[in-house]
Amino acid sequence: MFSVPVPQTILTRKTKSAIFLVFTIDDGGEDAVRDALEEIPGLNNAVSSRAPEAALAGIVSIGSAAWDRLFAGPRPRSLRPFVPYEGEVHTAPATPADLLVHIKSDDMGLCYELGAKITEALGDAVTVVDEVHGFRYFDLRDLIGFVDGTENPTGQAAIDAITVGEEDPDFEGGSYVAIQRYVHDLSSWNDLSTEDQEAAIGRTKLDNVEMSDEVKPPNSHIALNVVEDENGEEIDVVRDNMPYGDVSGAGVNGTFYIAYSAAPDVTEEMLRKMFIGDPPGTYDRLLDFTTAVTGSQFFTPTLDFLEDLPPAPDAASDAPPVPATRSDGSLGIGSLH
Ligand code: HEM
Repeated sequence: MFSVPVPQTILTRKTKSAIFLVFTIDDGGEDAVRDALEEIPGLNNAVSSRAPEAALAGIVSIGSAAWDRLFAGPRPRSLRPFVPYEGEVHTAPATPADLLVHIKSDDMGLCYELGAKITEALGDAVTVVDEVHGFRYFDLRDLIGFVDGTENPTGQAAIDAITVGEEDPDFEGGSYVAIQRYVHDLSSWNDLSTEDQEAAIGRTKLDNVEMSDEVKPPNSHIALNVVEDENGEEIDVVRDNMPYGDVSGAGVNGTFYIAYSAAPDVTEEMLRKMFIGDPPGTYDRLLDFTTAVTGSQFFTPTLDFLEDLPPAPDAASDAPPVPATRSDGSLGIGSLH
């Protein structure tokens, strides 16, 4: 029977809490990471089934360099490292990362429990390069005070926006995901008048209404973040940003940006427009008040992939040679070619 690969649970309603764990894989840690990847679906079930109303999901994604260390065989067609951008004024750096674990739920206790179990499974095979705990702030606002996520696609449009299709048959049902951690300069932002803040975003602050094209400044965040295909149709991504941070002046606070898409070039184009500008020089005004301190790109494989991993690269090269096909090109088993 034909079966469609089952994706990891990326699309949920907006949850109240999230934990983002970013790891590099230590030399020699590959086998342990493979074992942990296979455990993740079961760990998700073990924790989420204890409180189904809290919408727990733990999604694991794999970076470009790590892919070839973990798996033999084909790789996702568009999996590549995060593309850094250096504009005249602002920079989007690429930072090292091999694995992303994105955990979300209405209950931070459940996020913690699943994160601890996954971290324990990964053990000393990995190094943690970032751990961010995100929280809901009022009516889904960022710490800059604006509602974030409004223009996300929903329903079938969201599925289409994030799902690899038949263009890459080996990885159908997977997604690409980009992350950046931003650190805000809230005191400068809060010095702006509400009108100037609204001009930087392109929406009103209190009631979250988009400005008309006649008044929306070309360097506003939402004017620059519209990407269209060759037919002029908007190409969407699904963002699941979360505010995070310390309340005391000693720490930092900001936005953890995360966007899932069916191909990485969509988020790359958004970042190019934000940092280089469109036209070049007309960069995103929001960037004058927030700094990207990390940037990484991953592929999110399906649940089927995690439950039945391809062989490890070494195992593949040690495996007995595949029997040669007969001279007629068939495998010699019935009608299979
Ligand atoms: C500090 C970081 C960021 C903050 C605080 C932020 C905040 C916002 C806010 C408040 C909106 C308007 C409401 C909405 O539709 O969600 C928005 C829209 C959007 N943002 Fe961001 N964002 C950030 C980074 C990014 C990045 C890095 C990207 C892409 C690479 C991005 C892509 C988008 C897109 C595609 C929209 C919707 C545009 C539209 O169709 O109207 N954002 N963002």
